[in-house]
Amino acid sequence: MTAAAKPLRLFFALWPDDAVRESLARASLAIHRVAGGRATRAESIHLTLAFLGDCDAERLGALKAAAAGVRVRPFDLVLDEHGFWNHNRIAWVGARETPQGLAALVSDLRAALAGAQLAFDPKPFVPHVTLVRKARPGFAMPALEPIRWQVEGFVLVRSVMRSAGSDYLVESRWS
Ligand code: 2AM
Repeated sequence: MTAAAKPLRLFFALWPDDAVRESLARASLAIHRVAGGRATRAESIHLTLAFLGDCDAERLGALKAAAAGVRVRPFDLVLDEHGFWNHNRIAWVGARETPQGLAALVSDLRAALAGAQLAFDPKPFVPHVTLVRKARPGFAMPALEPIRWQVEGFVLVRSVMRSAGSDYLVESRWS
């Protein structure tokens, strides 16, 4: 008998292009400057659509097949809202208005996963990009310019634990 393969830690996300990534990284550092904590590394910045957590490697094929059936209607996401959640001390950016295309993408993706009996965190979707973790409560949010993100696809990300934190590796892309 062969030893069971280690599960993969996976999530689906929007993955920014270089320009959006740079803007978000700048915002992350601006918040970190006043709030302390841990700024998200530029290369890790993303917006989670569905979090699967630990998943057997042999389910990867089914996961990719489910995602491949999801049609993406391109949309503009304007990140014009910033906030801090006390319960997990996350400072984030989000959108005052969730574009219809984003709501449809999340709902179609989650329906495709559920239809294929692929488990994911069922918590309602709260669109946000985590910019700083363990931020200091009560910090004054700096003024941040809205960031326009033209979304044309989504990715499957594998989270790999390292001693210095997690690395996020893009496993597949769809557009
Ligand atoms: P967060 O940034 O708000 O913590 C990888 O962990 C990504 O999946 C992060 O964007 C994280 O959101 C998100 N995520 C959603 N549900 C999660 C869960 N139950 N456990 C860990 N991360 C989760």
